Amino acid sequence: MSIYFNNAATTWPKPPCVAEAMKDFLENGGANFGRGTSSGRDLETMGMVLECRERVARLLGGWENASPQYVTFTANITEALNTVLKGYLKPGMRVVTSSMEHNAVTRPLRHLEQTGVKVTVVQCDRFGRLDPADLDRALGAERADLAVLNHCSNVCGTVQDLEACAAVCAGRGVPLVADTAQTAGLLPLDAHKLGLAALCFTGHKGLMGPQGTGGIVWKPDFAQACDPFCEGGTGSFSHLETQPEAMPDRFESGTQNLPGIAGLNAALKWIEERSVDSLRKAENAVGARFLDGLKTLPGVRLYGLTEMSDGKRLPVFAVNFDGVDNAVLAAELSDRGLETRPGLQCSPWAHQTLGCFPQGALRLSLGAFNSPEEVDKALIIIDQSLKAIGAPSPIAAR
Ligand SMILES: Cc1ncc(COP(=O)(O)O)c(C=O)c1O
Repeated sequence: MSIYFNNAATTWPKPPCVAEAMKDFLENGGANFGRGTSSGRDLETMGMVLECRERVARLLGGWENASPQYVTFTANITEALNTVLKGYLKPGMRVVTSSMEHNAVTRPLRHLEQTGVKVTVVQCDRFGRLDPADLDRALGAERADLAVLNHCSNVCGTVQDLEACAAVCAGRGVPLVADTAQTAGLLPLDAHKLGLAALCFTGHKGLMGPQGTGGIVWKPDFAQACDPFCEGGTGSFSHLETQPEAMPDRFESGTQNLPGIAGLNAALKWIEERSVDSLRKAENAVGARFLDGLKTLPGVRLYGLTEMSDGKRLPVFAVNFDGVDNAVLAAELSDRGLETRPGLQCSPWAHQTLGCFPQGALRLSLGAFNSPEEVDKALIIIDQSLKAIGAPSPIAAR
């Protein structure tokens, strides 16, 4: 069995309760709520979806006393971010973002730019950190209508000071959208307390759910200010010819990924039973062990923060080795039983910021199920792989 160090792509394995809940839903539940006769199965599905919304609202700090009404599900965070950005930004508006964004943000923004939206990118430092003072300057330079920020880099694990950034946005009266793909389930989050206009999340990373799940925790008035880009098929308000304004229906057109939501619901219960803090601390502990070992490898170049400091970084590491192509190394690691991800990880801006564009970097991302024994074994596999592909010795490389 391989050692899995690609948890930033999707966490694996999932807690066993996730697959069990999905199987149970498909075999014993399986109704499409709001589109039937209110049979027992319809009501059970409705109850399960509501329970999942409530869990998301509790975990991520939903608005209106954690009301499930303002949690809407999407297929993933890419869809969530597209829904918010394309639903809110109109020609002539200006949006401010950072140089550490994933292309789930940068591509919709470049698309919107073609329609007349102005995009301002705030440069982060070489460790991937956004200075809230720089954000403030960018927001104040000219009228800004929206800010969208990555909470934790999927390339190097740097965590932004979301609280300080949210305070800056509030001070300027600019709605803030957060990309919490890498942090939901691992860092404490409270959309309401932070005053976020929208907190976008994905279900299959730190939240431990299945692929095909994600969503948005909305500030109520911001939800009304966004136009849904998909309409119809809500199973509700069938007398209306136009999309209902009521939440969550406004942003949930078509049959939802109900087996996925059943799996996500079970995953969230699993997290509640353990706590976000204990899961993060366990991941950080194996992360620190790995980081210490990584630094001793010959010719290593580490991008991002060099210490495992709680709340400032997560165990997502980006490295290159002198004279080594990170794709060749990743293939060798894979052959020897270590799963990683080379290249640009959908985030060319982040690699430019960190100084590893266009070659990208080898990303090694640890998760809840990695053990100290796996860390030690992974370090040996990397060392052996470097030798096997003929990495130059540090002296020869100089
Ligand atoms: C920071 C960040 N944003 C967005 C995404 C897109 O996630 P998904 O594929 O679940 O839409 C990812 C996935 O790697 C990510 O790390």
